[in-house]
Amino acid sequence: MTVTEALNARRSTRAFLPAPVEKEKLDAVLTAAARTPSWANSQPWEVFAATGGALERIRSAYKDKYAQKAKADLETPRPARWTEAALERMQQLQPGIKRDCGETAAHFGELNQALFYAPAVLYICMDKILSEWSLYDIGAYSQSVMLAAAEQGLATIPAITLVLFPDVLRRELEIPDHLKLTIGIAIGYADPENGINKFVSDRKTLEETVRYFK
Ligand SMILES: Cc1cc2nc3c(=O)[nH]c(=O)nc-3n(C[C@H](O)[C@H](O)[C@H](O)COP(=O)(O)O)c2cc1C
Repeated sequence: MTVTEALNARRSTRAFLPAPVEKEKLDAVLTAAARTPSWANSQPWEVFAATGGALERIRSAYKDKYAQKAKADLETPRPARWTEAALERMQQLQPGIKRDCGETAAHFGELNQALFYAPAVLYICMDKILSEWSLYDIGAYSQSVMLAAAEQGLATIPAITLVLFPDVLRRELEIPDHLKLTIGIAIGYADPENGINKFVSDRKTLEETVRYFK
C-alpha cells in the first residue's frame, strides 16, 4: 500500500466488528507511528491502549454517564469560536452522512455513545505543561497511527466523544495526574454491514486550499 493509497483508504469508521485486534498488529501500528516528527524529537505522545475487560468497563461507565446526563469534561477545551468558513463546512457533515448512509445516519449519536463498539481504543495523552506545539505533534502522531492502521487492514476513528469523561478513563487506565487526555482513536475491523460506514466525507478543492506563487 502506498502512502497515497493509505491516505485514501483511511476514513472515520463509526461501527466496528467485535473481533479483537491482534496485539502484534497494534504493536506494528504503534511502532510505525513512533517515527512521527516532533519538536526537537520531544515525542510528547503517551498512549493508553484500552482493550478487553478494561474497555468494556469504560463503555459501561460511559453508558451510565449518558443515562445520568453527566456533563462532559473535555481536558482539551472546545474552541470558543470557529471561522465562518469552518462553520459552513461543519454544517455539511450531517447532510453528507444522510446522503451516503440513509436511515443509518440516525444512529450517529448512539454509535458515538457506544464508543463505536470498537474492540480497542488508543487514548493519546501528553504532559499538561506542554504547549500547542506538542498538540501539533500529537495530531501528526494520530494521523501516523491511522495510516499505519490502514496498512494493517484496520479501521479507525479519532473522536472527542471518546474522551468526554476523563474521570472514567483516569480510574480505569491509571492515567497519572500530570498527563492531559487529548484524543481517543478507536481501532478495529470495520463492520461492512453497518450503513454508517458508507459515509465518505467531502474535501475543499485544491484551489480553495492552496495559493501558489512564483
Ligand atoms: C480532533 C477530531 C475529533 C473528532 N471527533 C469526532 C467525534 O467525536 N465523533 C465522530 O463521529 N467523529 C469525530 N471526528 C471525525 C471527523 O468527523 C472526521 O474526521 C471528518 O468528518 C472527516 O471525515 P473522515 O475522517 O472520514 O475523512 C473527529 C475528528 C477529529 C480529527
